[in-house]
Amino acid sequence: MKICFATNNPKKIEEVKAALGDSFEIVSLKDIGCSNELPETGDTLEHNAFQKARYVKEHFGVDCFADDTGLEVDALEGAPGVYSGRYAGEPRSDERNINLLLKNLENSSIRTGRFKTVIALLLGDEEYKFEGVAEGEILKVRTGNGGFGYDPVFCPVGDSRSFAELSMGEKNRISHRGKAVSELITFLSHR
Ligand code: IMP
Repeated sequence: MKICFATNNPKKIEEVKAALGDSFEIVSLKDIGCSNELPETGDTLEHNAFQKARYVKEHFGVDCFADDTGLEVDALEGAPGVYSGRYAGEPRSDERNINLLLKNLENSSIRTGRFKTVIALLLGDEEYKFEGVAEGEILKVRTGNGGFGYDPVFCPVGDSRSFAELSMGEKNRISHRGKAVSELITFLSHR
């Protein structure tokens, strides 16, 4: 089965391809000739995931799925949440986002938080939603060179390493996106 993953983030494509294995062929936005920035103007992950997927379906006519992810930090009352990508403003920068997060948590002993992912799947005329959550803590300093986004400062529950220190397989087994993708795979395999 061939399906488009509606993202411009090559790291996400890599992760999802690794999780999906050989049973599904993932095509990227580039593969379908889409170089547009996808709209994500909502104030929920679900809104943004469906907005991105519907945009691709409407403009390119392909079955597709899109994800939207946010990092909720308890000491910051759930921020940056749905605004995680633009936390430190535009243009989006992982480095500035992490700097701001660490600064805002400088005096906080409560470091708990979680990544949440919503995947919106558009198949024919039908729409489906899958979700995944990874609980953890925000580290005080960056650790590790792998992953992307906030990975160097996120330590998942049950591990002492940051997401950026895990192999892609290890991250996929416990991560928000890995869990949502696993729901997606189960669903697609039964069709
Ligand atoms: P989006 O889902 O691409 O909108 O991502 C929102 C923000 O969360 C961006 O700053 C991403 O870099 C970050 N992000 C998304 N997924 C992950 C992840 O798996 N690890 C760390 N950061 C992530």
